[in-house]
Amino acid sequence: MKSRETTDISGHIIMVTGAASGIGRRMAARLAEKGVIVAACDKNLAALDALKLEVGLANLHTFEIDFLSDDSIYSCVNSIESSLGDLQAVMNCVGILGKNGMKVEEIELDDFDLVYRINLRGALVLTKATIKGMADRGYGRILHIASISGKEGNPLLVAYSATKAGLIGMVKSIGKEYATSGVTVNAMAPALIQSPMTDSFSEAQLTSLKSKIPMDRLGNTDEVVDLAAWILSPACSFTTGFAFDLSGGRATY
Ligand SMILES: NC(=O)c1ccc[n+]([C@@H]2O[C@H](COP(=O)([O-])OP(=O)(O)OC[C@H]3O[C@@H](n4cnc5c(N)ncnc54)[C@H](O)[C@@H]3O)[C@@H](O)[C@H]2O)c1
Repeated sequence: MKSRETTDISGHIIMVTGAASGIGRRMAARLAEKGVIVAACDKNLAALDALKLEVGLANLHTFEIDFLSDDSIYSCVNSIESSLGDLQAVMNCVGILGKNGMKVEEIELDDFDLVYRINLRGALVLTKATIKGMADRGYGRILHIASISGKEGNPLLVAYSATKAGLIGMVKSIGKEYATSGVTVNAMAPALIQSPMTDSFSEAQLTSLKSKIPMDRLGNTDEVVDLAAWILSPACSFTTGFAFDLSGGRATY
């Protein structure tokens, strides 16, 4: 039986997307502190530079990625693997709320498409760009951040809820496809986590969404990182195609 000292991910090469802000930013910083070789990726290069300066560790590397471009996603993965080595894990924290606060009859289709391209299509392309190499090597961890909105649907957040539901369906499907390959593909479904994304909610939206959380508070980015670091480690070996809860008691399934 292999040792269970498998939560140790120091020395692993892990790609963190959406690393310029909020959850991804905290994830990249904390993984670097754990000795992970971090590829911190985002479209916001100035914020990535600030992160690198703040963390001050040589094992945190920054890369440009734009989820609106398939080529950008593939070339980012290629740059990481040619400069740092083969990826052991990917954590995808890119996501946008898009225009919200309106009913479906008022939604502009172009706005819906933008949310779809970033939250769902980009996640699919990132998975395509990384999973084959991992499967060929017999080990990998892929984790996407979905949302409780994708499980329950939040009113006036149609595009966001639909794309996050799509992400949950996507990991269920791909998780089964690769179940015997050594690669796990999972999602997390957080409720409100304090971040620049939640800062953009109106007071009324925030109060309404917070009132659904039995713990009566927002989660924080460290709580996401702690669970994610375990899911991204070899220790999380018998779970794939699953949406991990992080909702302060809101989710009932
Ligand atoms: N904060 C919450 O309450 C909460 C709850 C549930 C799920 N989530 C999900 O967690 C993830 C991270 O959320 P957050 O709160 O840290 O958000 P955030 O807005 O702070 O960070 C999102 C990051 O994605 C990047 N990004 C946006 N469009 C991009 C593109 N086209 N290409 C590359 N990068 C792009 C941004 O530059 C930013 O750095 C998102 O998927 C979000 O939907 C957040």
